[in-house]
Amino acid sequence: MNAINRLATVISLATLFPLVVHAAESKGTVEVVHWWTSGGEAKSVNVLKQIVEKDGFTWQDSAVAGGGGAAAMTVLKTRAISGNPPSAAQIKGPDIQEWGKLDLLTNVDDVAKANKWDSLLPQTVADIMKYDGHYVAVPVNIHRINWLWINPVVLKKAGVAKAPTTLEELYAAGDKLKAAGFVAIAHGGQPWQDTTVFEDLVLSIMGADGYKKALIDNDEEALTSSKMTEVFAALRKLQSYMDPDGTGQDWNIEAAKVISGKAGMQIMGDWVKSEWTAAGKNAGTDYECVPFPGSQGIYTYTIDSLVMFKLSKKNDTPGNNAARDDLAKVALEPEFQYVFNQNKGSIPVIKGLDMSKFDSCAQASAKDFAEAEKAGTLEPSMAFNMSTSQAVQGAIFDVVSNFMSDKKADPSKAGKQMYTAIKAAAQ
Ligand code: GAL
Repeated sequence: MNAINRLATVISLATLFPLVVHAAESKGTVEVVHWWTSGGEAKSVNVLKQIVEKDGFTWQDSAVAGGGGAAAMTVLKTRAISGNPPSAAQIKGPDIQEWGKLDLLTNVDDVAKANKWDSLLPQTVADIMKYDGHYVAVPVNIHRINWLWINPVVLKKAGVAKAPTTLEELYAAGDKLKAAGFVAIAHGGQPWQDTTVFEDLVLSIMGADGYKKALIDNDEEALTSSKMTEVFAALRKLQSYMDPDGTGQDWNIEAAKVISGKAGMQIMGDWVKSEWTAAGKNAGTDYECVPFPGSQGIYTYTIDSLVMFKLSKKNDTPGNNAARDDLAKVALEPEFQYVFNQNKGSIPVIKGLDMSKFDSCAQASAKDFAEAEKAGTLEPSMAFNMSTSQAVQGAIFDVVSNFMSDKKADPSKAGKQMYTAIKAAAQ
């Protein structure tokens, strides 16, 4: 090889090499804290990861196990305080405002403007995602909470002719299931799961107005009413149908008992569908979804959203900012909204998507959402962070779970205890 050829080889290697490195190199990293760790939910979040990676960015997964997200919030607080926030974290409802006040969030207004979020999102949803008029979060879905999930084969075996529509029918189904040797209600005894049942009973016994007064306005009269005594008495009654092995159990482990035919029913938000879907089961045939008995016409919701944090000095690079913006952009694109929500069990948060691609439970959810919106019975879920601060929610969780664990607790005193606990927490 003569000198000129040698030089040419060196030059071409030098120009080639960076190219090779670049092709494999990521354009930036987005780190996301979330609590989607069950089989079905991990599959759902993987959809987002794959799209972000296809766009050339690195997804750093910081999942913290624990249904309802209490453990994830603890980790997030510690990280934020020590100046090491992730790029984005799953935070919902009024808490977004609390984080905003701490001056820890950044906005994605440019992405929102370029992608017309103001017209894509329902106004109420857009408002929740904004702090001080700026988009600091991107919503990904709408979950309905007040559902009852049923294994129809199990109900049939126990001689239950149809899905219960009233509390009386629910108790009757529970009696038959127990008598036939099944777990009547698969339920994990964790505060957030207990409170899900409590919240549903408030809807069922006190109606949408009573729910609003008690669990959104935290009104003393509603919380200490005789109707609230009825709610706690019904909670005690339902407890007698719950899985005797459910103490401290995760929701997805309990869901598996309904899927496998060991249990007949589960009271849970529609993320439980992610487990049925992951197990290859179909809505309407393998399982049924009906509104929680007595709460027909009311729709309690939670909206999962990813909140954007100001990056630490070390991580604040153009590439990482671009990665965060990419995440925000793809989260509201139809491609993601379809696939993610089909896996997750929720319905799309953007307007105008074709629901015929979804299963019968999702279609029912979308229809009931629209009807409840019109009727004024669309309510933010307390148990899933949409109606109160975390402190108030924590106080309610404590009262409900103490009531569940103390079998002698008096239903007529629990409402008063709840009011007092809420007052103390709200200060
Ligand atoms: C909720 C969340 C759902 C689901 C559920 C169980 O807070 O909105 O997406 O993850 O917790 O962990």
